[in-house]
Amino acid sequence: MTTRRAILKTGGAAVLVIGVAGAGWALTRAPKKARAPWDAAGTSFGDARLDALAYAILAPNPHNMQPWRIELNGDDAFTVYCDTARLLPETDPPNRQITIGFGCFLELVRQAAAEKGLLAEFSYFPEGEPWPNLDARSVAHVTLRQGAQVPRDPLFGGVLDRRTNRAPYDLARAPDDAALNAIKAASVAGVEADATADPARVDTLRTLAVDAWTAEWENDAARRESIAVTRIGKKEINAAPWGLALAGPLMEGINAAGLLTREDMDVAGTASFDQSLEFYNKACRSATGFVWSTTMTNTRRDQLEAGRAWVRMQLAANAAGVAFHPLSQALQEFPAMAPLYEKAHRMLSGGDGRTVQMLARLGFAKAPPPAPREPLTAKLVMD
Ligand SMILES: Cc1cc2nc3c(=O)[nH]c(=O)nc-3n(C[C@H](O)[C@H](O)[C@H](O)COP(=O)(O)O)c2cc1C
Repeated sequence: MTTRRAILKTGGAAVLVIGVAGAGWALTRAPKKARAPWDAAGTSFGDARLDALAYAILAPNPHNMQPWRIELNGDDAFTVYCDTARLLPETDPPNRQITIGFGCFLELVRQAAAEKGLLAEFSYFPEGEPWPNLDARSVAHVTLRQGAQVPRDPLFGGVLDRRTNRAPYDLARAPDDAALNAIKAASVAGVEADATADPARVDTLRTLAVDAWTAEWENDAARRESIAVTRIGKKEINAAPWGLALAGPLMEGINAAGLLTREDMDVAGTASFDQSLEFYNKACRSATGFVWSTTMTNTRRDQLEAGRAWVRMQLAANAAGVAFHPLSQALQEFPAMAPLYEKAHRMLSGGDGRTVQMLARLGFAKAPPPAPREPLTAKLVMD
């Protein structure tokens, strides 16, 4: 017997659920409130720091945890702290990826300030580098100064259009050399970037990505960490505009039909568990290029620089029309990932002990809507 559950597992039938509810309803499902910070960036707050920070909060960051807390100091400075309640201890035990997200944030501060002719002076970890974990000490102190000649950054023009694109990519189209070179060239000093669209190499990296996602999803603690911050549908996303968002009428339709729930995502054999595994693996298999970055050492400073480089590389990719999807699983430092971590380093580190900081798949697909963000006001703390 064909059950309703089995039918609804297919994309076509899920659309049927929406069809019943009506197309008008579908148009109302965008979590507009959660996307409002993308419109707020670019409006003047009457304070150059806030104007720059309104862009910085749009930085890519792991699981969209948005761990930044900002304390304004005097007239022209601010201090950036990490909200340690927003770490990802299971998938990111040394907080390496969270630190990379702060690097992305600081690079957008720099670019947005430069647009206004201001030089952002950074002091990284002024109270010392926190090891083994980030703590109450500041991540960076930033001063915005009027500079004689502060060049604008051409990448800044794409900040509001930058997207993490998790869709399956067009298998018939690979990024060309010009695009790969532009992406690599966007890195910063001290962070080496490399990229490939060579079909044989792409194939081995697809396999690595699929194996690593499967290992993460089948690891109870790692999977539960993601499920705990997954929001399904407009109401949840607007109420908590951080974490992983499953937005849109399709997701809401299958959620309403009971076929996509956080509870079931944790139970092997349910549609929610299996489709979460398969959705991502299908995406990994559709990569037509890959890009990665390495650093010689792995200090907190290196991680911040890797983040600065990363958002620049993503902006360069998007500017070239190339879709970009970080695939961090094989680079994660939890024990169950160790064999694939070693494999990834054998494949990508260049063989001289460098740390592979980031890996993303590249290709072509329609860009998704912007990811949720908390408003800037929610990120300011009192001096
Ligand atoms: C250090 C780092 C690691 C990331 N790893 C992944 C990943 O493994 N898989 C993924 O889908 N997205 C990954 N992302 C992308 C974030 O999930 C994404 O930036 C966030 O959800 C916000 O979405 P946006 O980039 O479209 O604004 C990563 C981002 C950063 C900065």
